[in-house]
Amino acid sequence: MKIGIIGAGNIGGNLTRRLSALGHDVSVANSRGPQTLTELAEETGATPVTVEEAARGAEVVVITIPVKAVPSLPPGILDGAAEGVAVIDTNNYYPQQRDGRIAEIEDEGLTESRWTERHIGHPVIKAFNGTYAQDILDRPLAAGDPDRMALPVAGDDEAAKAKVRALIDELGFDTVDAGGIDDSWRQQPDTPVYGLQAGTEAVTKALAEASPERPASFRG
Ligand SMILES: NC(=O)c1ccc[n+]([C@@H]2O[C@H](COP(=O)([O-])OP(=O)(O)OC[C@H]3O[C@@H](n4cnc5c(N)ncnc54)[C@H](OP(=O)(O)O)[C@@H]3O)[C@@H](O)[C@H]2O)c1
Repeated sequence: MKIGIIGAGNIGGNLTRRLSALGHDVSVANSRGPQTLTELAEETGATPVTVEEAARGAEVVVITIPVKAVPSLPPGILDGAAEGVAVIDTNNYYPQQRDGRIAEIEDEGLTESRWTERHIGHPVIKAFNGTYAQDILDRPLAAGDPDRMALPVAGDDEAAKAKVRALIDELGFDTVDAGGIDDSWRQQPDTPVYGLQAGTEAVTKALAEASPERPASFRG
């Protein structure tokens, strides 16, 4: 599959590694330009590109950057993507440590991913946001393994969600359907499922136990 990854840090870098190793055609971009991604490209075989080029022809696009950088993404970044592209949003809002206060999230009560959708003008699938970057490399297991981790996946576009769940299965993880984007507060930072390294049953239970109230440590 042709996959574009915007963000080449902890998560973007490790998704580039694993998805390239699985044989996908991966393009990867960061804020500083493709000339700064030669090492990752040599290691993985992925193609370093500009942000504008990352989604071109892609069936899956991953947006994995600090939330505060989302508004500065160039308009129309998804215009050249393949029809039916699934856009994965791995991002988390860290108002105090990194992103600053975002009124639409805190005052309007938008989920972090709904806010991102508004900026990029395309529906997203929320996945990997509570997964330690290192687990993407260290914890893939074959389907059926009793120790296989499960990741929550939320999104409104059922076809895109199915595509993302199949890709995560290929990466070595089970998935749990966490509902639509308006339900995705259940997997935001500081919820029971955030950072949980467990299987389907425990992830399902943790999602059900989440509180809609934003914790003080994640308010700006
Ligand atoms: N680290 C984790 O374990 C983890 C786990 C789950 C979710 N997350 C979330 O996933 C997102 C990415 O996390 P991370 O730890 O991978 O971040 P990171 O290591 O800080 O990397 C951020 C990446 O985003 C790029 N970037 C920043 N602004 C950009 C822009 N305007 N256009 C294109 N690329 C831009 C950076 O490029 P430059 O270096 O060129 O600036 C860098 O490659 C965050 O929202 C984070 O909260 C992280």
